[in-house]
Amino acid sequence: TLGGYADFMAKEIAEQPEAIERLLAGRMGEHGVFLDELSLTKEELAAIDRVYLIACGTSYHVSLIARTLIQTWAKVQVICDYASEFNYEQDVLVTPNTLCVVITQSGETADTLTAARRMRGMGCKVFAITNVLGSTAARESDGTLYVQAGPEVCVASTKAYTAQMVASALLALRLAEARGEMDRSEVERHYRDLCALPDLIREVISRAWQDKRAAALFRRAHSALFLGRGVNATTALEGALKLKEISYLHAEAYPAGEMKHGPIALLEPGFPVVAIVPEDRVHDKTVSNIQEVIARGATCVAVATDGDEAVASLVEHVLWIPPVSDELLVPIVAVVHLQMLARYVARARGCDVDKPRNLAKSVTVE
Ligand code: F6R
Repeated sequence: TLGGYADFMAKEIAEQPEAIERLLAGRMGEHGVFLDELSLTKEELAAIDRVYLIACGTSYHVSLIARTLIQTWAKVQVICDYASEFNYEQDVLVTPNTLCVVITQSGETADTLTAARRMRGMGCKVFAITNVLGSTAARESDGTLYVQAGPEVCVASTKAYTAQMVASALLALRLAEARGEMDRSEVERHYRDLCALPDLIREVISRAWQDKRAAALFRRAHSALFLGRGVNATTALEGALKLKEISYLHAEAYPAGEMKHGPIALLEPGFPVVAIVPEDRVHDKTVSNIQEVIARGATCVAVATDGDEAVASLVEHVLWIPPVSDELLVPIVAVVHLQMLARYVARARGCDVDKPRNLAKSVTVE
């Protein structure tokens, strides 16, 4: 039931902090990160020399974040692929110690299941990250990590998305630990950073009024552009996907530095641009891209870190996020604003946010 919320999307956005708390509870023990679901010994884990991440849609965006976490923390090469592309590729470069991870909140996406079967056929261990107990992906995998986000009714994924990112972070930490890339205190520090996420998300949710205000800037828009760098190029992709699927407003996402190689031609006065520009190593580079946007008269909404006057003085509107201790985890906090923004834009346009046209919760055809 809705329990007082206007729609399931609002309810599921609000459930994100508890979902992440459930997933993280008891994951750090005497022997390090507890991830027995992997069903791989420490030696087998340590031997992994390549990770294939395969998914569709929003879950594919999770894989892009997971790639950065695994490569940065565990120093293992990662390849991300859309299941619908992977299944028709001629050559798949697997090593005897390649781990395949399929990310699928429903566990029933036909393309993803086909990809998992193909990988198993090649002798790879397949691990599933899913939200649905007993789903096909879970049944057919060597190990399954349930993200425990609870049933997601709204077709557009919100809490499964953020929980899957946290699950990927646990996997990255477990790999880093098994490979000796991190000592105990580092693993614990990263775990503490993860445990801080629920409160940071609560804080963002309490700022929903900022998203409501920003939504007014999309009233006359026909299209929107989302920009970000690094891990937040993925946040931009997810923000654009949420907006188009529930509000039917065309939206594209680009890594901010790529804007000048084409999409900048779209900009004109009033064109809405959403820039994700937290305090991180690429902050100043993204600020220069925002200046290029402003110079063309476009309307810029920024997701920025509390106190960032440099950004606030440039843009039309700011969606503020509290500081996040590890910049690689910002996507898990920042995306919550973009979920709320998409919802307010969709509602203002009279759309059914829970049941967008032409979409189904799980796509069981290839
Ligand atoms: C968008 C959304 C879809 C799914 C995609 C894959 O909000 O939910 O893009 O992510 O259809 O579904 P799963 O994760 O169930 O494999």
